[in-house]
Amino acid sequence: MNSKNQKIKIVADAEAMGRAAAETLVKHISESLQTRDVYSIALSGGSTPRRLYRLLAGDSELRGKIPWKRVHFFWGDERHVPPDHPDSNYHMAFEAMLSRIPVPPANIHRIHAEDPDADQAAGDYVRDIRRFFDIASGEIPRFNCVLLGMGSDGHTASLFPGSPALGEQKRLVVANWVEKFQSYRITLTVSVFNNADLILFLVSGKQKADALQAVLEGDWAPDRYPAQRIQPKHGSMLWFLDRPATKRLDVNRRGPQLD
Ligand code: 6PG
Repeated sequence: MNSKNQKIKIVADAEAMGRAAAETLVKHISESLQTRDVYSIALSGGSTPRRLYRLLAGDSELRGKIPWKRVHFFWGDERHVPPDHPDSNYHMAFEAMLSRIPVPPANIHRIHAEDPDADQAAGDYVRDIRRFFDIASGEIPRFNCVLLGMGSDGHTASLFPGSPALGEQKRLVVANWVEKFQSYRITLTVSVFNNADLILFLVSGKQKADALQAVLEGDWAPDRYPAQRIQPKHGSMLWFLDRPATKRLDVNRRGPQLD
């Protein structure tokens, strides 16, 4: 894939991935803030990014390089649960990072997934995004960074195979019914992710190997493998992969191991 705006970085394991992704993110924040007042990042959920979040908050060298008061945190997606629920992506990020850094509460743009009406929660989030980016209806926000993971079924954010949100062309955020969980998820849509300056995909573990091979090397099948829909429109995309996740990839693609 190593095209001009899409690169793969292979690291030994999840620990090395956290470190490599953190260093990349700190560098991008620093560069971005040379020419703008604030930095906007959409966090991903799941378990993979937890190590990254803990490092950003806990590693004194990394932590000290980030002007936290100029960073605004959003989420790429959220489960339809309250913020203190163990499944909440906000809860995970709060425990791992946000509660441990000097970020002003106004910089935390949580999805109000406690709202029993998931569509209402999606609408509230759109209003918050439009206000922050000062955009009108029909305009797409340009996040400085979006973090993404990938499930073993090839989903990313809450864009699950065959789910209604996959084809969304107009809305920025949707309440997406996910059949296999029999629940709604609130998720940014593909055009928002693709509009970011920097897309960081973090994929770790041998259980992701088959889906990763299909996404990166298989036929174009974006309904079956929604992660294929993530294609940077004018920014760049970096895949951080640990060695176990790459075991199905073409040996030439795997390239040198980057520790
Ligand atoms: C979520 C994430 C989801 C996640 C993948 C991978 O809400 O869970 O947005 O897309 O990134 O499911 O999850 P793991 O990192 O736990 O493997």
